[in-house]
Formats: sequence, C-alpha cells, structure tokens
Amino acid sequence: MREGIVYVDGKWSTPEHAKISVFDHGLLYGDGVFEGIRFYNGRVFKLDRHIDRMFESARLIGLTPSVTKEEFRDIILETCRRSGLTDGYLRPVFTRGEGDLGLDPRKAKRSSTVVICSTISLYGDKHRTGLTAIVAQVRRPPRVCLNPNVKSLNYLNNILAKSEANARGADEALMLDLEGNVAEMSADNLFVVKGRTVYTPQTSNCLVGITRETILELCEGRYPVRTEMFKLDFALQAEEVFLTGTGGEVAPVISVEGHPIGNGKPGPVTVELQQRYFDLVRSTGTPIPSGNGGSVSTKAAASSPA
Ligand SMILES: Cc1ncc(COP(=O)(O)O)c(C=O)c1O
Repeated sequence: MREGIVYVDGKWSTPEHAKISVFDHGLLYGDGVFEGIRFYNGRVFKLDRHIDRMFESARLIGLTPSVTKEEFRDIILETCRRSGLTDGYLRPVFTRGEGDLGLDPRKAKRSSTVVICSTISLYGDKHRTGLTAIVAQVRRPPRVCLNPNVKSLNYLNNILAKSEANARGADEALMLDLEGNVAEMSADNLFVVKGRTVYTPQTSNCLVGITRETILELCEGRYPVRTEMFKLDFALQAEEVFLTGTGGEVAPVISVEGHPIGNGKPGPVTVELQQRYFDLVRSTGTPIPSGNGGSVSTKAAASSPA
C-alpha cells in the first residue's frame, strides 16, 4: 500500500482509490501543469512560491484553474494534515480537465485539481557520495517550441533523457539546448563551481527552479555568482558540479561521461551549500495545521463538487 493521501476535485481518497477521467486532457495529451513541493518537520518549504509558479505555468498555457490561489493553499495544507506525515512530498496538478478525443482545449470545460501527498527518495546516500551523469543525446526543446518555464505535464523529453542515463548505467542526464549550451539535468537545475565562483545557466533554457533560487540566496555574501550560458567543456573543467531540485534537493555530480569533476569527490562549496540548504528547509516554511482543518474541507468541497 502506498503512503499518503490524494485530493481530487473536492474529495480526499487513499492513493489506491483516487480517480481521474480517462478523457482528461492531462492524461491524453499531457495538457496540464504541476509542482513538486517538499515539507519537512511539519512545515511546507516555500509553499507560496510554488503556488505562484504553478498559477504562472497555468497562465502560460491558457489554463484556468478551478480553484483560487487561496483555496489551493488551503487544500494543500489540508492534504498534508490528513496525510499524517510530517516529512513528505506534494505533487499538485492542474489538468485541462475532461474533454473529448480531439485536441481542442475548449472542449475541456473545467480544469481538474489534484494534490498527491506522499513521500519520495531519489538519491539516498548519493547526496553524500555524489552522482554520475551522462550527456543526453536528446536536447531540451527551444523556448519557441515549449517555454521551459512552463512546468507542464508533458515530460517525455525529460524521461527520454533519464532513460538514456539508465541505459548507460549513470545516475542522471545532463541536457544541452540546441545551441550546445548546458541547460539543466533531466529534472533538476545545474550549477558549476570554478575558483569559488558559482555559475548556473540563465532561465531562458531551463526551469526557474525554486531550489535554484534558494541556492542563489544562500550564495549571497559567501560566493560570487554568475548566471550565464556556458558550454559542456566549461562544466567538464569545473572544480565542482551539483544539481538542485525539490525532489533531488542538492546533490554533487562527481563525473560526467566518465570524466571526473575536480578530484572526483564532492567539493567543499557543494558540501557547504548542501548543508545550509538542509538547515534552511528543516527550519522554515508554512506550518501544517493540526486539528480538524475546519472550514478548509468545507470550502474545498463547496468549490469543487466530488
Ligand atoms: C526540468 C526541471 N528542471 C529543474 C527542476 C528543479 O526545480 P525546483 O527546484 O523548483 O524543484 C525541476 C523540478 O521538478 C525540473 O523538472
């Protein structure tokens, strides 16, 4: 049995019983948006920032959520509360909703709102020992094809990259854009360190990662930062490489295509930023309410009938 609880349009169910229509355009076409949010020690990390990004993703694809930001915030916190978990992972999703078998998004009259609350563990002890990466053959699509800042349900490009990593026995895949600039990892942003300066690509070819933003904040006053495009060679010659993501947190990358990064061990800047990140996420965030949640469930149910 899976851990956790799932909210779908006004109703909470166990993960085994949660249902969504097979005519939902989220399933049929990847037509929708999502977030990945973690909570630690009973507090949701950067909840409002995630909600803002999700509504922005929805706006960029012309999807009108069936809930307001305030209702959604209440639903997320209530879902956490009902899960009984103090540490876990949230997967909120807005799909285009139930339509017909044609593409036309106008046929989907009402967006579906889903919040999955469970747990996730991606890299285990490799947070300490470091990850290996390959460079994926598949490239990130250019902005004119799909804006990387839309965190859409269509992750096939990323999954193909991850499959390449799996097939080649690596932990992760580094992805380039069409110009050969380093863009990001399959589901994480990427940083490199050279002479204590911390570099990360601009967000014109990668997701505006919230962990990325947090790392940039943690660098302030400690390390010089440069957000700029760079090629693969620049990353290979770096002293340190690390990835950031809500799911993956902060993890060292110790080799790329079999080429060791620095001395092939997690570097001091990565280790320090990782520690500061873990300290921050475990000590800040929006508290998950205790008690019965009162008006929250009533409001959510009223706005989205089960
Ligand atoms: C493609 C991609 N890049 C970067 C990230 C990291 O973003 P965040 O730190 O907001 O989780 C993700 C996270 O899901 C992602 O899917």
